[in-house]
Amino acid sequence: MSSEWWRSAVFYQIYARSFADSNGDGIGDLDGITAHLDYLNDGTERSLGIDAIWLTPINPSPLKDWGYDVSDYCGVHPELGDLGAFERLIREAGRRGIRIILDLVPNHTSDEHRWFRQSRSARNHPRRDWYIWKPGTPERLPNNWVSIFGGPAWKWDETTREWYLHLFLAAQPDLNFRNPEVVAAMHEVIRFWLDRGAAGYRVDVMHALIKDAMFRDNPPLDKVERGSQNDVAFRQKHLYDFDQPEVHEIIRGFRRVINEYDDRIMVGEVWPHSNQSLALYLRPDELQQAFNFRFLFCPWEAARFRAQVEEIERILPAGSWPTWTLSNHDFARHITRHEQGASTGPRARLAAVMLLALRGTPFLYYGEEIGMPNVAIARERWRDPVGRDGCRTPMQWSDAPGGGFTTSQTPWLPLGDCAAVNVARQIDDPASMLSLYRRAIRVRSATPALRAGTIRVIEQPPEDCLALLREAPASRALAALNFTDEPREIEVPSGRILLSSDPGRDPGKTTLGKFRLAPNEAIVIEC
Ligand code: NOJ
Repeated sequence: MSSEWWRSAVFYQIYARSFADSNGDGIGDLDGITAHLDYLNDGTERSLGIDAIWLTPINPSPLKDWGYDVSDYCGVHPELGDLGAFERLIREAGRRGIRIILDLVPNHTSDEHRWFRQSRSARNHPRRDWYIWKPGTPERLPNNWVSIFGGPAWKWDETTREWYLHLFLAAQPDLNFRNPEVVAAMHEVIRFWLDRGAAGYRVDVMHALIKDAMFRDNPPLDKVERGSQNDVAFRQKHLYDFDQPEVHEIIRGFRRVINEYDDRIMVGEVWPHSNQSLALYLRPDELQQAFNFRFLFCPWEAARFRAQVEEIERILPAGSWPTWTLSNHDFARHITRHEQGASTGPRARLAAVMLLALRGTPFLYYGEEIGMPNVAIARERWRDPVGRDGCRTPMQWSDAPGGGFTTSQTPWLPLGDCAAVNVARQIDDPASMLSLYRRAIRVRSATPALRAGTIRVIEQPPEDCLALLREAPASRALAALNFTDEPREIEVPSGRILLSSDPGRDPGKTTLGKFRLAPNEAIVIEC
């Protein structure tokens, strides 16, 4: 019987290379993470209090896409440690009640993976069909598909004179999941880490594991459908390379493997064609959860956040449990996205309270709990092919040289302003962002309505405000959020303030009737 622990868990995403460097080479590693587990949860109120970690890819990789190009699924990248370091991390995390899910990258491998080397070595190699090859001539692409990172999704291979498919970099050839041997090999990979204590997986690009059997051309997207997305990848609708009906059988197969073990989870990165098709991924024999990226695209408007919450509640199948996330390793951090002079800090504080007051599993991104902003990195210094470096910079532990992250003079990515924003400075300050996160996580876990209750959006809050009512048997909480730079008066039931994003507000005070929210303030009332 599964405990479904992930429903009440608070997850914390760690970008493995950027959390803590234990050996002074400028690169974060597994032993560095182990050394900082007490910060994440030592069982006391001094620690952040998270329940689970999502660790971005740790496998050997030539790092063309920073680990999302795996060259050996069953190893640890030597810069991050080894299997011994992984076992230590799992053991020490387990002692603190922290579970760890890994990033599984099944859609593509590195072109340096043994499977691809074999596949590309000859047209008649037994592993040729493990990848997606098409005959033709170098002048004529097999179809019009484009890579998410730009340019055609096909690369001509001079040695065997055929095209291979890559939905990302040419150095990330797509595996062929229509081949049962590939499916079986990936099942073995899944078992490998579950056998070693991983609590499950975040699965990369899950929606694209199967492509159209006829490789039909994708239709173009018109300007309206494209919205603000101007990249080449979004000039066409990914009708035939994403979200194919047959992908569900692959997911069910993965889930059967997950179910061979107690209490493991699969959270999918899924970009479906529609809300209806998202629901299909969440059927009881498929994913337990799918990532929800909606807040990443919300401008700072109560109505926009409200619309996302309502839509998720409407489209998710009964019994399924949403996820919420404000930031991750692919987008600018939210404190930077919502930057607006003096309001920026209070906005990020409001967002934290909102995230932890919603129905669903919150996924925090390392550093957001101290308000780490994106770091501006000049194009010549980008290490990522598409420039996502600014949200992946080293964790800012202190104002020491190296930011407490490393003793090296040359961290793998530049440090942000460690004097201004760091853990050491915030840990004993009750007014800090870190203290707010710690309190919000504790309030959430101590309040059944917030942890597990239903959610209802209050119909007519004051303009530019959002009010959410959470209800569970014998527990009720109201979150009221003011997205403006002015105070707003809101009608509230009688109750007790559990939490406010405003450090000046007295928690524990009782409320009745009208309540004056400070600019950008969020409160949670037990009522
Ligand atoms: C999604 C990951 O989040 C991103 O970082 C990566 O580049 C692509 N998938 C390709 O694996």
